[in-house]
Amino acid sequence: MKQADNKATLSFSNGTPSIDLPVYQGSIGPDVIDIRKLYGQTGMFTYDPGFLSTASCQSAITYIDGDKGELLYRGYPIEQLAAQCDFLETCHLLLYGDLPNVQQKADFNKRVINHTMVNEQLQFFLRGFRRDAHPMAVITGLVGAMSAFYHDSTDINNPEHREISAIRLIAKMPTLVSLAYKYKMGQPYMYPRNELSYSGNFLRMMFGTPCEDYQVNPVLERALDRIFILHADHEQNASTSTVRLCGSSGTNPFAAIAAGVACLWGPAHGGANEACLNMLEGLQANGGAEKVGEFMNQVKDKNSGVRLMGFGHRVYKNYDPRAKLMQDTCKEVLAELGLEKDPLFKLAMALEKIALEDDYFVQRKLYPNVDFYSGIVQRAIGIPVNMFTGIFALARTVGWIAQLNEMIGDPEYKIGRPRQLFTGSKRREVSPISQR
Ligand code: ACO
Repeated sequence: MKQADNKATLSFSNGTPSIDLPVYQGSIGPDVIDIRKLYGQTGMFTYDPGFLSTASCQSAITYIDGDKGELLYRGYPIEQLAAQCDFLETCHLLLYGDLPNVQQKADFNKRVINHTMVNEQLQFFLRGFRRDAHPMAVITGLVGAMSAFYHDSTDINNPEHREISAIRLIAKMPTLVSLAYKYKMGQPYMYPRNELSYSGNFLRMMFGTPCEDYQVNPVLERALDRIFILHADHEQNASTSTVRLCGSSGTNPFAAIAAGVACLWGPAHGGANEACLNMLEGLQANGGAEKVGEFMNQVKDKNSGVRLMGFGHRVYKNYDPRAKLMQDTCKEVLAELGLEKDPLFKLAMALEKIALEDDYFVQRKLYPNVDFYSGIVQRAIGIPVNMFTGIFALARTVGWIAQLNEMIGDPEYKIGRPRQLFTGSKRREVSPISQR
C-alpha cells in the first residue's frame, strides 16, 4: 500500500487513548481509512454487516459512481463500450487492463474460440442431473466439475495456470450453459462452431438443432453481446466478493468461480432478472395494467414482503446506466421480432413511470436496475426465464476471473477472515444429560 495521504484520528469517550489511522486516496471515488492495525492497537473490531462502509480490497478494474449513475470498466464508460466494442474486446479490457488493437483482438479471439469445446466426459456428468433441475443448480455443478476435468490449470499461484483457466472459463461457459439448456429440453447437444462470433455461437448452441442450418440473426446477436457487456463486471458485488473470498484460500479458479455462480443465483442478486420477469408475468395474468396501482400498494407495504423486482441497488442511488442501455436494446429486439406491442414491455414501462414519480421510490432513491429490462429482451430472444441467471453467470465469469487474478497478484492479499461481535452465551459447563 502507498504512503498515507491523510490521517484520521479515532477517539473514545471512555478514556482509551486516541489513535491515528492512515487515510488513502484512490484515483477516483471515496478515500479509505486503513483499519488493519486497529485490533492490534485497541483490541477492537469494526462492525459493518453487509459491508456498507467497508472496502474489502484495492482494485483497478471497475469503478461505479452510484450518485452519478456512472459505470467505468478500466476507465471506459459503459455507454461507449456498449456502442463501440464487442464482448470479447470487453473481456480483453477487463482481464489485461486495456482494449485490444486489431492484432491483439484477432489473437485473443482465436485463443478463446480454440477452447470452446468441453471435455466429452462432461456430458456424462451432466446426465446425472434430473432433467427438471433448475439450470443454475446444473451450471453450478458443471463449473465446479471443471476442476475435475482440467487438472493442468488448477494452481492459482501459477500465472500460466491462471491465464489458461481464465481463457477456458470464458470460452467454455457458453458451451456449458447451452448444454444445461439442451439437457433440460431433451434436445441433442450442439458443438461450438469456430467461424461464429462469441454471441452468435452461443445462440446457435442454444437454438440450433442438427436437423437444419441455423442462421444467426444479427440484431439478436448484437443484443446478446450487449447483455454480456453490461453484465461483465460490477466491482465488489456479492458474487465477486464470494469469488475473492473463496479464492483467497488458494483454491483452484474453477472452484472459486463455481462459488460465484452459486452466490449469483439468489433473487437479491443475479436471480433478480428471473424474479422480475416472473413478477411481470404474474401481474399480467392477474389483471395487467389495471392492477398496477394495487400491486404498487403491496410493494410499499412493509408487511406484504413484496418488492418491486428489478428496482433498487446497493450502489446506484441514481439511474443504473445499464438499465438505460438495456431499455434501448429491448426496443430494438422487440422491433426486429415484430413484438413492439409486447404487453410485458408495456407493463414494465408503466411500472417504471409510476415508481419514478412515487414518493416511496423517490425518497429511497430506488431506480430500475439492469434486470428490469434484461428479462424482457431475453424472453423475446427465446431464452426461458429459468435460464436468465445462467446467462448472467456466463457474462460475469470474465469479471470474476479478472478480479480473482487481480487479488492473487496483489502483494497485500491474505486469506479473507472476517471477525464478529459475539452475542452468544459466555463460557458455561456441560452438565450430564440426565441433569439437563
Ligand atoms: N421494492 C420495494 N422497496 C424496496 C426495494 C424494492 N425493489 N428495494 C429497496 N426497497 C426499500 C427497502 O424496503 C428499504 O426501505 P426502508 O428504508 O423503509 O426500510 C429501502 O428501500 C432500502 O432498501 P435496502 O434493502 O436496505 O437496500 P439494499 O441496498 O440493502 O438492497 C437490493 C439493494 C437488494 C438490490 C434491493 O433494492 C432489492 O431487493 N431490490 C430488488 C431485487 C433486485 O432487483 N436485485 C437486483 C440487484 S442488481 C443486480 O444484482 C444485477
